[in-house]
Amino acid sequence: MSEISRIDLWQALDSRGVPTVAARVRIGSHEAVAIAPSGASTGSHEALFLRDGEGNFNGLGIERTMSTFSKEVLPSLIGIQGNDFSELDRVLRTFDPTPIQSRFGGHIPVAITLATWLAYSKSAGKEPFEVIAQHVRSAPSLPMPMINIFSGGAHAGRAIDLQDILAIPTRASSFTEGLEWIWQIREECKKLLSRRGFDTALVADEGGLTAKLSGDEEAIALVSEAIELCNLSGRAHIALDIAASQLFHDGKYLVHESGAEVALNSEEFVSRWSAWLDRYPIISVEDGAAEDDETGWRAQRALTNRIQILGDDRYATQLARLNRGLAEGEANSILIKPNQAGSLFAALTTLQVAQRHGWNTVVSARSGDTEESWLADLATGANAGQIKVGSTHRSERTAKWNRLLELSYDDAAPFNNASALEKFI
Ligand code: PGA
Ligand code: ZN
Repeated sequence: MSEISRIDLWQALDSRGVPTVAARVRIGSHEAVAIAPSGASTGSHEALFLRDGEGNFNGLGIERTMSTFSKEVLPSLIGIQGNDFSELDRVLRTFDPTPIQSRFGGHIPVAITLATWLAYSKSAGKEPFEVIAQHVRSAPSLPMPMINIFSGGAHAGRAIDLQDILAIPTRASSFTEGLEWIWQIREECKKLLSRRGFDTALVADEGGLTAKLSGDEEAIALVSEAIELCNLSGRAHIALDIAASQLFHDGKYLVHESGAEVALNSEEFVSRWSAWLDRYPIISVEDGAAEDDETGWRAQRALTNRIQILGDDRYATQLARLNRGLAEGEANSILIKPNQAGSLFAALTTLQVAQRHGWNTVVSARSGDTEESWLADLATGANAGQIKVGSTHRSERTAKWNRLLELSYDDAAPFNNASALEKFI
């Protein structure tokens, strides 16, 4: 009795109040719901999120696709074994074979595959992370958190060009301790901003602080100062998500220096941020070049010995794109977002291939996320090593942290301290 016997789909809202899909899957006498997250700085290689374009929610609704999908695809999913993630993925892809799932989008399949995993876990009497660990044949571990402190770019009205300045509690001895350290750093940052006359009451999409500072470097210096004031120098480090695709227009990167816009070529752009590595404790840089800027990615290759060079839009959790990156040796780590891959199985496959090649993996939420906590189980069960969820604030973020605090309290798995990052410290 572990096969899918019923699937329901309906329209729900994500943390930005934008319509998304909720899927409920029944296995035996158990049911589980999963809601698809969605991004703001989406790359062009990730599975699509198809909206109706007219009608409810000013065209942001998804009811039309959901109704066609229900008629055409759902009947073929009934009867598939709940733990056969690969078969579920295979059948889904027969209806929508392109990597970006151009017919129905990735949002419906990802919600269904996640809900299937969660319903199967219940029916098998297992924790969701245990089912993932069994699937990837790995020992589970609690991930090192990478936590947003200061936001800019598409998540904060472009207050600065950088999208995220994050902190990692690299020397924390437990997940619980690490989370508290980063909370302290955020508090310190808040005080520094207030002292400079900025309002800190409002937060960005992922709960981060934000302010119209003079530019990116002032924001990095602020987080760096907060780390020092917390006496966490050498024990907590900085990660950047540059989200460079957002800054790339007609072959040039448009950034702001002292209020003025400047246009940089690929090498100049990479040199601009790599100079920050000498001045601040930065150990990870995500999307340091635009998704298809080959020159920009080549320019980062030499830095792979020095810091974690992380690809988000570049790989879009798609195996074919990861394989290209592995062959080029242009990075050493990948962000894993299930909805970019459009199914749980595809995301896990990409993660496993990256791990097999010695790359670090960072399981990540989206800027438009939900109150669900499965991402914490995914990162733990897959022994991902790291997790990126946004800030310590806002319920769609704390849902994941709180689940990890529960797993930590239960001693469900050992904490993955900085082993994967050690070489960059
Ligand atoms: P997104 O942002 O969900 O808006 O894409 C998250 C990220 O870029 O990592
Ligand atoms: Zn990113």
